[in-house]
Amino acid sequence: MKQSRANVANAKPAAVPAPRKKTSANSMWGGRFAAAPSALMEQVNASIAFDKALATQDLAGSRAHCTMLIETGIVSAADGRAILKGLEKIAGEIAAGTFTFTPALEDIHMHVEARLGELIGPAAGRLHTARSRNDQVATDLRLWVRDAIDRLDDTLRDLQTALVERAEEHAGTILPGFTHLQPAQPVTFGHHLLAYFEMLDRDRGRMRDCRARLNESPLGAAALAGTSFPIDRKRTASLLGFTAPCANSMDAVSARDFVIEFLGAAAIAATHLSRLAEELVMWASPAFGFITFSDAFSTGSSIMPQKRNPDAAELVRGKAGRVIGALVGMLVVMKGLPLTYGKDMQEDKEPTFATAEQLELCVRVTAGMVRDLRANPVAMRASAEKGYLTATDLADWLVQALGVPFRKAHEMTGAIVRVAENRGVTLAELSLAELRSVEPRITKAVFQALSVEASVARRTSLGGTAPKLVRAAVARAKKRLTRP
Ligand code: ARG
Repeated sequence: MKQSRANVANAKPAAVPAPRKKTSANSMWGGRFAAAPSALMEQVNASIAFDKALATQDLAGSRAHCTMLIETGIVSAADGRAILKGLEKIAGEIAAGTFTFTPALEDIHMHVEARLGELIGPAAGRLHTARSRNDQVATDLRLWVRDAIDRLDDTLRDLQTALVERAEEHAGTILPGFTHLQPAQPVTFGHHLLAYFEMLDRDRGRMRDCRARLNESPLGAAALAGTSFPIDRKRTASLLGFTAPCANSMDAVSARDFVIEFLGAAAIAATHLSRLAEELVMWASPAFGFITFSDAFSTGSSIMPQKRNPDAAELVRGKAGRVIGALVGMLVVMKGLPLTYGKDMQEDKEPTFATAEQLELCVRVTAGMVRDLRANPVAMRASAEKGYLTATDLADWLVQALGVPFRKAHEMTGAIVRVAENRGVTLAELSLAELRSVEPRITKAVFQALSVEASVARRTSLGGTAPKLVRAAVARAKKRLTRP
C-alpha cells in the first residue's frame, strides 16, 4: 500500500494538454473575455462532435425565427433575406459534406452563426436577436426527437407486420405455453407471436403520447425570461409544426422531461424486444429446437464447427441494457438541476441519439429474425406432449361432465397425472381403466379433452389461443396496422 502511494507521489504528473495560446477570445462573447479557453476547457465544453446531428433542426429553427423577425419588423426585410439565403447555403454545405466543423466553435448553433457571418457579413449578427442558445437547443432537440419517433413508428409497424404474417402462418401450430418456464398449457405459435404485436402496439402508443406532449415550441423563451422584443411565438411554433408555444419561458429552456419520456418509452420497447430475443435464443437452442435461423441470421464458432449461434437475438437482448442505461443516466443528470438551463443538460444528446439509433436497429433486426426464422412444428408439438399440459383440460372436463367442484377436480387430476408419470405415458395414453382407478365415473368421452389439439381448440374465450380466434385476431391486427 505504502509502496504504491510513494509511486504515485513520485510519478510524473499525467500529461495535461498545455493551454492553447489563442490571440482572441470567443467571438460570441468576446466583449467580456480577453483570453481564449484552455484546451481542456474546450474539450469538456465542445458538443459539436455529436450535436452536429442537430444541423437540420437547427437550420429549420433559424429559418422560422428569421421569418418571424422579418414579419414583426424586428429585422429589416433586406437583412432577413440575406440571412435566409445564407442559411440555405449552409444547408447545402452540410448536405454536401463540405461544411467545416471545429471544436473551437463549441456547438452546432455557434457553427451556423459563425459561418453565416462569413457568408453574409454583419447582418448575420441580427439572427440571434430575441433568441438564446438555450431556447434554440431545446427547440432543436424537440424537433429531433419528434423525427426519431416518426422513424421508429415506421419500423415498429414493420415489425408488427412481420409478426402478423408469421402468426397467420402458424395460427394452428401448437407449442407448449409456459409459466415459470414450466410447461403450462398448449398454445399456438401464432397466439404467442401476437402477444408481442400487442406489446409493440402499446410501445407505439407511448411514443405517440410522448410526441404529442413534446410538440410545443420553446423558441422565443430566449435565455430564460422571455424577451423585450415584440416577437410572435405562435408564428414560429406553427412554422416548425409545433401545436403551440411552451407556456412558461423558464420551463421551456429547462424542461427535458420530453427526453426522459422518450428514453422511458424506448426502454420499455427495448425490454419487449429483449424478451422476444430471449425466447428466440431459447427456441433456437437444440435443447428446445422450436426454430432455426438461416445462415443469414446465424453466426458460427471459431472453434466449435457444429455451432449455429443466434448472435442477432443476443445483441437485441444485450442492447436493452444500453437503452435502459440511457434512461437512468438522464434521470440522474436532471434530478438535481435548479431552474433553468445548466450545461449538465448538454449531456442529454448522446444518450438520446444513441438510443434512437440502437432501438431502431434492434427493431429492424428483430423484424429480420421474425421473417427469417423457420418454425419446427414437429418439435413444438412433441414438446407440448411432454409435461401433462392438458391436465387443466382434464380438470375442466371433470367439472363440466361430472359436475365435480373445480378444487376437487384439480385434486383428482393431480392423482391421474401421478399415475401417468409412474407409467411414463401422456394423459391421452392412459387407459380408461387407469383413469377410472382415480374416478370411476370417467367415460371414454374424456379422451376428446386430452389431446393438445382439443385443448387449444377449446380455448375460445375472448383473447384465447384457439386457432379460430388467432385467425380472427390476425385479421383484426391487419386492419389495425392500416390505421394512421
Ligand atoms: N451546446 C449547448 C447544449 O447542448 C447549447 C446551449 C448552450 N447554452 C449555454 N447557455 N451555454 O446544451
